[in-house]
Amino acid sequence: MTAEAKRTAFQELPFYSPQGQEIALFENAYQHQLPVLIKGPTGCGKTRFIRHMAARLGRPLYTVACHDDLTAADLIGRHLIGDGTTYWADGPLTRAVREGAICYLDEVVEARKDTTVVLHPLSDDRRTLPIERTGEVLQAPPEFMLVVSYNPGYQNLLKGMKPSTRQRFVGMSFDYPRPETERQVVMGESGVKTATAERLVALAGGLRALKDHDLEESASTRLLVYAGTLINNGFDPVEACRAAIVEPLTDDPETADALMEVVRAVFG
Ligand SMILES: Nc1ncnc2c1ncn2[C@@H]1O[C@H](COP(=O)(O)OP(=O)(O)OP(=O)(O)O)[C@@H](O)[C@H]1O
Ligand SMILES: [Mg+2]
Repeated sequence: MTAEAKRTAFQELPFYSPQGQEIALFENAYQHQLPVLIKGPTGCGKTRFIRHMAARLGRPLYTVACHDDLTAADLIGRHLIGDGTTYWADGPLTRAVREGAICYLDEVVEARKDTTVVLHPLSDDRRTLPIERTGEVLQAPPEFMLVVSYNPGYQNLLKGMKPSTRQRFVGMSFDYPRPETERQVVMGESGVKTATAERLVALAGGLRALKDHDLEESASTRLLVYAGTLINNGFDPVEACRAAIVEPLTDDPETADALMEVVRAVFG
């Protein structure tokens, strides 16, 4: 299997605080054998949600980080040479189909379009995976599910998914959680008490409202969790926010100053 692919079989349910109806929708899609497409900004909980759902549904999870060198063979498999003979090695997609697992293609818009085309017969009502090199055609069992995600923010015109690929999926849009949910996430993940979590969420609200600085994306839930983790370990809150939130957001000193003003207004 390629280095980018990972199989996880969950013993415990990863903590996930829902934003809306996404759990019911995902369960429904699973039951009716529909593939799912998840969009949303960085650090808003897409990967955590899929890990949670795989555990909840009791399926192993194959995660593939897509990139522009990813070939169809990386997903499906290839012949390898060893002990003087050649043998066939399944790729993560093929394994997931055989096992009835969930296959999760992260940042799917990074993959070349000719790679995503191999998903077509698998993601419509045929639910088949033809393996050209061996002549095998796998029929996906009902437990198999295909999930893809991407961040529309990084997307450029060349990179979007083909309509014929997109229109094979049920789509869900994620965003940063509502303040109450985000507070629970920050507390649950970093261990900070309510008052600190509330301040971090208020800070995120302030930073996300800043429109006149050309940040590619604003402060994510992930960064709030990082800041909370540092604060919970005794770090000064203003310095924790500089290290965990402001530095990852920008390289521009003026923008950093403006962001630090918001930090001081909340924690100073
Ligand atoms: N709803 C949530 N419930 C629990 N934890 C959450 C939730 N949303 C965000 N988190 C926290 O934020 C972190 C980042 O979330 P995650 O890795 O799922 O983001 P992502 O949307 O996959 O981002 P990327 O597009 O960068 O991969 C998680 O590790 C977790 O600590
Ligand atoms: Mg992710």
